[in-house]
Amino acid sequence: MPSKTSNDELNRQLADRYAEIARLVGGLVHEIKNPLSTIRLNMELLAEDFRDSDSARDRRAIKKVELVQQECRRLQNLLDDFLQFAKAHRLDLQPNDLGVQVRQVLDFYRPQAGKAGVEIVDYLAGDLPIVLLDREAFRGALLNLVLNAEQAMPGGGQLVVRTYGTADGVALDLIDTGGGMDEETRSKVFDAFFSTKRGGSGLGLPTARRIIEGHGGQVRLQSAPGRGTQVTIALPVLPRLPADGNPT
Ligand SMILES: Nc1ncnc2c1ncn2[C@@H]1O[C@H](COP(=O)(O)OP(=O)(O)OP(=O)(O)O)[C@@H](O)[C@H]1O
Ligand SMILES: [Mg+2]
Repeated sequence: MPSKTSNDELNRQLADRYAEIARLVGGLVHEIKNPLSTIRLNMELLAEDFRDSDSARDRRAIKKVELVQQECRRLQNLLDDFLQFAKAHRLDLQPNDLGVQVRQVLDFYRPQAGKAGVEIVDYLAGDLPIVLLDREAFRGALLNLVLNAEQAMPGGGQLVVRTYGTADGVALDLIDTGGGMDEETRSKVFDAFFSTKRGGSGLGLPTARRIIEGHGGQVRLQSAPGRGTQVTIALPVLPRLPADGNPT
């Protein structure tokens, strides 16, 4: 059986290799983003040239230019999401109150919820144990889950958000009254690039899971068609983190 030291060493080597690949991928993404912005900018200029023309031919041309612009925007969003997903998250884990972080995300989201007809019902426990959280990464992950709930309720609905203590830590449920998922969809939602949405990158849930697992926590999902979805984030008070304190 390998000794603990050699396991730690192996983990460190794997983490280093991952960081190196993530760095290369980041470089590649930037190399793609730069010419993409040039294309987008030139398409904008081209669209302006055609804007006031009355000819049918020019109107057809402008439609094509707009299509290219739309696709450029889609690619830029995809590349941004991919950078978020692939980057080696160096989590800055600090003692935090889960309820405080959840409330901040909900306060930020509330104006948009109003517009989307999403009623937020929160039950945030006041006396939960302190957990280790990277505030920025955690809030980003939570916002992704909240946006998924909103997108599952296109005609509006209710989003219940509750926090509670567990045997070894704390947990958070997000329960929406949206369309839910069938078993096949449910089995794929954590696959990178799986999306049932037009223009969705399919990286929201995989990124959220990586971040939560990076905290030593878990993301669980319960869902049924027509019966809404419940996403649970569980965080241990004492996370088992690898030697370098950074699992991702
Ligand atoms: N709350 C939910 N209710 C119903 N389906 C959901 C919910 N959350 C996620 N899904 C399903 O899981 C898929 C993957 O979600 P994920 O957040 O990874 O990507 P996305 O939302 O499609 O795209 P992106 O987050 O990049 O905009 C969604 O396309 C949707 O089919
Ligand atoms: Mg999403």
